[in-house]
Amino acid sequence: MQIDVGIITISDRASRGQYDDLGGPALKQAALGYGWRVVADALVPDEKREIQRAIRQQLELGCQLILTTGGTGVAIRDVTPEAVREIAVRELPGFGEVMRAESMKITKNAILSRALAAVVGKGLILCLPGKPSGAVECLSFVVGAVPHCVEVLQEVPTSC
Ligand code: MTE
Repeated sequence: MQIDVGIITISDRASRGQYDDLGGPALKQAALGYGWRVVADALVPDEKREIQRAIRQQLELGCQLILTTGGTGVAIRDVTPEAVREIAVRELPGFGEVMRAESMKITKNAILSRALAAVVGKGLILCLPGKPSGAVECLSFVVGAVPHCVEVLQEVPTSC
């Protein structure tokens, strides 16, 4: 299934230019590998309003799936889950459950992850860890459910 994807890197330090954004390019490569089309990318600091604005902009551009990387941990500046939940119509807990369970087989620190999936407008938002390999791994654990989920969200509601 052709899916139009947006990618958002959420990092204070990368947005200040203190280090290169490696997570965004890693997710872009993974998305292309799944046969999806990457139509937008953004790099924002760990600020709720900036995260929400970037998501809305990418939805307006027609992104059906938005992958975020970063801000899902326990640091005081990690606000990605809060930012997404504030604008979501619903959360899809199974995605976070599977990402944590599978990641625990790789690193015990995965228990600290607050990775999640939520629906904003008609888009599926997947919030992945900041570490590039962790983001790509977590996406791989849930990718099987993504096409069906995106398809259902794009369906025009029928009037009764
Ligand atoms: N999941 C996988 N698969 N691989 C990882 O390296 N890192 C964990 C976790 N999930 C990791 C992972 C760590 S150390 C943290 S703190 C959380 O994701 C949150 O990361 P973030 O704050 O960079 O988003």
